[in-house]
Amino acid sequence: WGKEGHYAICKIAEGFLNEDAATTVKALLPDYAKGDLAAVCSWADEIRHNFHWRWSGPLHYVDTPDFRCNYEYCRDCHDLSGNKDRCVTGAIFNYSMQLMTYHESKSTSEWKYNLTEALMFLSHFIGDVHQPLHVGFTGDAGGNTIIVRWYRRKTNLHHVWDDMIIDSALKTFYNSDRAIMIQALQRNITDGWSSDIASWGNCSSEYLVCPDLYASESINLACKFAYRNATPGSTLSDDYFLSRLPVVEKRLAQSGVRLAATLNRLFASKPLPS
Ligand code: ADE
Ligand code: ZN
Ligand code: ZN
Repeated sequence: WGKEGHYAICKIAEGFLNEDAATTVKALLPDYAKGDLAAVCSWADEIRHNFHWRWSGPLHYVDTPDFRCNYEYCRDCHDLSGNKDRCVTGAIFNYSMQLMTYHESKSTSEWKYNLTEALMFLSHFIGDVHQPLHVGFTGDAGGNTIIVRWYRRKTNLHHVWDDMIIDSALKTFYNSDRAIMIQALQRNITDGWSSDIASWGNCSSEYLVCPDLYASESINLACKFAYRNATPGSTLSDDYFLSRLPVVEKRLAQSGVRLAATLNRLFASKPLPS
């Protein structure tokens, strides 16, 4: 996702944090965030192109074999050179394991990891793994090499899903006011999707995170909605926009709810009953 997507996801997540998690998040956030998780949710994108952080580029996505429409951790989670675990789902496992050490390291004052960075990476990557084309095909780099028109503008399919659908919705339906759009998403969650919230947050993994589930959902949505009727050279306009916007809105809502549920599990001061 782009800036607006990540901001919305983290704003939604803030509303579902329990007291323990909210306290720990506030303790870990850098000062410039001023206590607002959403303020740092695009940090991982801002740094990925500068030299010192170039290793983090492959951690934003996981590509899958062309046209198979499925995802497998062992087969797919590697970078372009084949280094295992270097993909978005691997990064989510890695940073959540680091954050699980928060309560021990707090008492021993032995900080083994930079948990501020771990929190900012995790909050960003749980968003990215929900963007269908961040779990796209290898052959087109998740839609990056599929050149299309978005109304009259020339762009690529990946960018349509990262930014353009959300930006168009902001302009068309929300008077370019991100707070109103986020409010509408929050209302969707508490009204229309209220019975789904608990199941979205569920995760019975011993790792306390379930990125493989989210990645499988994403590649299925990529095949069913993102790639469909979006061949190279095609023009995408109202038909595509209006039929895909509900998918985007649901994925933003799901990532927000799941980010909060994940942080609630990782930062629970007493072990949760299993
Ligand atoms: N680069 C290669 N594949 C990608 C993907 N699925 N998403 C973002 N960037 C990529
Ligand atoms: Zn992207
Ligand atoms: Zn990203």
